Amino acid sequence: MKTKNLLYILSFSVLLFACSSSSSDDLSNPDPDPIEKVTYKDNVKAIIDSNCLNCHGNPTNGPSNSLNTYDLVKNDVDKIIDRINRTGAGKMPPSGNLSNSAKALIQQWKDDGLLEE
Ligand code: HEC
Repeated sequence: MKTKNLLYILSFSVLLFACSSSSSDDLSNPDPDPIEKVTYKDNVKAIIDSNCLNCHGNPTNGPSNSLNTYDLVKNDVDKIIDRINRTGAGKMPPSGNLSNSAKALIQQWKDDGLLEE
């Protein structure tokens, strides 16, 4: 009789633990999307640095606009979104295209309010 009671208590606590641990996961991470807000420092800078700065550095190597600071990228965001979504004349970068996820991140950055960090 005592062993049976102990078993009940044991299985009940296992259940309780399983439930409480999964609900605390939900609380600590209510949004399954790993990126909450897109920022220049965390997300955008790396894309620009590796795909654009060999021409759009300061000084530039052909184009008239540098894209090597937060302010410059922010001021040009509409032109940038236009150019990276083109497939023909004037597309940026001139050879190839950014990945869809990189394009989406830059659009998301604008939608989130062009945060610096
Ligand atoms: C191989 C060199 C090169 C690379 C790499 C490059 N660009 Fe350009 N970009 C140019 C040149 C040259 C121009 C000027 C001619 C034109 O407007 O198409 C230009 C023009 C632009 C313009 C228009 C500027 C204006 O004032 O009208 C934008 C915006 C732009 N690039 C964004 C980008 C972005 C964003 C990237 C990276 C994803 C990039 N470019 C990568 C060479 C490059």
